[in-house]
Amino acid sequence: MKRPDKKNIVIFASGSGSNAQRLLEHFEHHPSIRVAALFSNNPKAYALERAETYRVPAFLFNREDFYHSDKVLEQLRQFEPDLIVLAGFLWLVPQNLLRAFPNRIINIHPALLPQYGGKGMHGRHVHAAVVQAGEPESGITIHYINEEYDKGTFILQERCPVLPGDTPEALAARVLQLEHRHLPLVVEQLLTEQDQQEKKD
Ligand code: GAR
Repeated sequence: MKRPDKKNIVIFASGSGSNAQRLLEHFEHHPSIRVAALFSNNPKAYALERAETYRVPAFLFNREDFYHSDKVLEQLRQFEPDLIVLAGFLWLVPQNLLRAFPNRIINIHPALLPQYGGKGMHGRHVHAAVVQAGEPESGITIHYINEEYDKGTFILQERCPVLPGDTPEALAARVLQLEHRHLPLVVEQLLTEQDQQEKKD
């Protein structure tokens, strides 16, 4: 059977999309991996404009589409995703998508899970809680997702210090640097491994 020319990444993003931007940049001229589409639940997400800049198709959906229909699943299938990356996407992923893409959906979380995860723990809330608790360090967790918030198998954790006097914003900026450095590399590695596995099978 003919192999597809490139591996496809689909990004889900709800907000600014700076991690989406890093993926768009990293894979723009990649020989074997592309960002095929970006999906968002937020019509005001700046991530949508970033996708447009890179001529990557973008799709908007609402709660009804996501949780009570197969509309998102059908749109996703058009892009034959090899990996779905939640990059600042805040909704729990429904069963129909988990079943359709087993071990193919990953999330980036701006803390060292299993601490500082779960419903409502996103963005600034995470960093505020870490600073408030007086933690000496924080970091990032890249993990597969499952039906619970922030509970799937870890792929990578990286750490950074929490410095005396850090505000949540200062910590967020340090953690975001880690995210930007590692997310494209982890995505590239997972897809490369997937490709090597398929060549063996
Ligand atoms: C990132 O820090 C990401 O880890 C976090 O949202 C931010 C999105 O930034 N995700 C979560 O908190 C998920 N629980 P971005 O839109 O600039 O990529």
